[in-house]
Amino acid sequence: MNFPTPHIKATPADFARTVLMPGDPLRAKYIAEQFLKGPVLVNNVRGIQGYTGTYRDVRVSVMASGMGMPSMGIYSRELYEAFGVQNILRIGSAGAIQPEINLKDIVIAMGASMDSNYQAQFHLMGSFAPICSYEMLCAATQSARELGAVHHVGNILSSDFFYDDDAGLPEALDPKANWRKMGIMAIEMESAALYLNAARLHKNALCICSVSDQLIRHEYLSAEERQTGFDQMMQVALETAVKLEQ
Ligand code: HPA
Repeated sequence: MNFPTPHIKATPADFARTVLMPGDPLRAKYIAEQFLKGPVLVNNVRGIQGYTGTYRDVRVSVMASGMGMPSMGIYSRELYEAFGVQNILRIGSAGAIQPEINLKDIVIAMGASMDSNYQAQFHLMGSFAPICSYEMLCAATQSARELGAVHHVGNILSSDFFYDDDAGLPEALDPKANWRKMGIMAIEMESAALYLNAARLHKNALCICSVSDQLIRHEYLSAEERQTGFDQMMQVALETAVKLEQ
């Protein structure tokens, strides 16, 4: 794949080896302005803002993925394949489906299960288990411990549905209840596509999410509280990016 791509108007030199990916373009701008030194806007096609700057003297990029697996699939594939990016660290929000996981906790996705058909493109005679990079996982858990961030490591669900049609289903047929029984920590909408692209292209990926919704207790963070939880996850992500260069 050559650059520029249909969705990223930049050159490989514009991006760092590690790209942090929030879903929201305005979050990418916020991160660049609040946390990076000397941020430069390197992409703005469709308002998907991408910036490169430094954090503690390490070059880091941040660019939005948009929402859902098709969007994450496009941006991660182009970054890996056309722009030489090695590590993508998704920083998102998720809805917890285990009772011991609370609002503002961080979930670190060792694996990303899915209810999507994204992996059909790879023509595997079976089902592939999308997993994160072990090196990135170690760097992230160490960073979370050092920062005293409450975090849980395990399997998450990447879902194609934010609004599902499950209301009122008996428990045996309720997908959320069944994923919970399998130990799934939380639901988000992008990581499986990221992990599958990383596997296919022999690159590294990890997703860490801040819990914005507790779906079994019907608890939801306010807009301001989402920001606080997000800032702690950002620190974990940036320290992870630094460790990857050491
Ligand atoms: N579902 C899917 N994605 C999410 C959720 C959710 O409840 N909360 C935050 N991201």
